Amino acid sequence: MNPVVGIYGLGTLGCNLARNLGLRGFELALCNAVPDPKPENKPQQVISRFTELSKAKGFDSIETFISSLPTPRLVVMMLTTEDSIDNAIQAIVPFLSQGDVLIDGSNTHFSDTTRRYHQLKDKGIHFLGCGFSGGLDGISNGLSVMPGGSEEGYRIARPVLEAVAATSVDQSPCCTYIGPEGAGHFVKIVHNGIEYAEMQLFAEVYSILRWAVGLTPDHIAEVLSAWKETDASGYLLDITLDILRQRKGDEYVIDSILDSAGHKGTGVYAVQAAAGFGVPAMMITAALHARYLSGQRHIRTHLDEVTRSTPRKNASMGTTDLYNAFQLARIINYHEGFSIIRAVSSQYKWNINLSELSRIWTNGCIIRSSLMNRFVKLWEDWDDELILHPEVKPLIAATWPGLRRINQVSSSETLFTPCLVAASQYIAGASLRFPAANLIQAQRDYFGAYGFRSVDDPAGPLLNYPWRNQ
Ligand code: 6PG
Repeated sequence: MNPVVGIYGLGTLGCNLARNLGLRGFELALCNAVPDPKPENKPQQVISRFTELSKAKGFDSIETFISSLPTPRLVVMMLTTEDSIDNAIQAIVPFLSQGDVLIDGSNTHFSDTTRRYHQLKDKGIHFLGCGFSGGLDGISNGLSVMPGGSEEGYRIARPVLEAVAATSVDQSPCCTYIGPEGAGHFVKIVHNGIEYAEMQLFAEVYSILRWAVGLTPDHIAEVLSAWKETDASGYLLDITLDILRQRKGDEYVIDSILDSAGHKGTGVYAVQAAAGFGVPAMMITAALHARYLSGQRHIRTHLDEVTRSTPRKNASMGTTDLYNAFQLARIINYHEGFSIIRAVSSQYKWNINLSELSRIWTNGCIIRSSLMNRFVKLWEDWDDELILHPEVKPLIAATWPGLRRINQVSSSETLFTPCLVAASQYIAGASLRFPAANLIQAQRDYFGAYGFRSVDDPAGPLLNYPWRNQ
């Protein structure tokens, strides 16, 4: 018999998970995550709305909700804000017993998860921070599931987590134990950082084809649909094609949407992690800042009067160049993401297995694509940076000229393509050929005597130069 699962929090995330489990025949106990849920009677509302939840039981009080569950209890919290997670834990834990499993399935910052993992471990509660990716489609198609924290808790929760997971490239569930403490939530935020940059790349390709080349959204979809036969094929390409083709009457739906991108914070966590651990993540950072800039309507309206440039709509470029530029930028984006994971995993000794992680990202999640299938194999026997892999290095050499040509077009047409530019600049910055950071070292030494290393002895001692005495 399937274990009974308690779901605490019935917003979009909680409802989706409940529906996913309900479809797979799990017995469910549902409780809404507000201090006094009675006026809303939310659990009953949710249960009567979805047939797959018809056998679920709704509870208004946390005490009766928890005591309805058999031991060891399995409670999944699906909440939205950091505050409510600490409050929810405080409200739930008094009713739990040693050996019960509490899962936080929200998009939580991993350092909070690490803190909570240790607090609850001291009380004998198995705490898991679990990233779920897949959005609305994940309800029926299955999710990519990224659990981290208590390994014993994972053993107990595994049948449930695997049941809601999609099927990966090797036919096993898109679910694996990621590592201790906040490791599961950590890889979810990196997933989202990669997601932000990949979405931004699609927006930039769209922008080039629409405004520099002058194609209609339908025509752009036609061009991009050829990419379905390549490593670019994946969920984000599929939904982009679908979006571009949607019309309301004579108008394209895309043209009725304000170009001001929202976000819910995980991109910020990814950028913070990269910056905090000293990992260059120029594309992920550019993608987040592009969303911020898109939201600054006031500045944009005023600067428009100054910049006043109209793309000519007949720029010529090779479609092979555009494809190569897009694919190379995607590789740099993944490299940034994997690089953040390598750094953080090594710092915290989480031992995150990048091949397994790629495997659970081959289906269910938003960034699933054919390229991800390749990473599963690639990481099996590679323990260095992605861009240094013998298969990746020649690919960079072959496609970088195309990326630069595309950037020239977008620059001369005054388009906004920060991720394509950041990808190219990442490669340029990773070259030793044209030194410039030596000037920064000289300036630091000039005003602060911070010292620099000599080109003749790169691992040697810090030296100072008597700048003012010359
Ligand atoms: C997923 C998505 C999802 C994402 C939200 C918010 O993997 O299913 O990444 O979890 O966090 O859709 O995204 P925004 O920050 O863009 O609002």
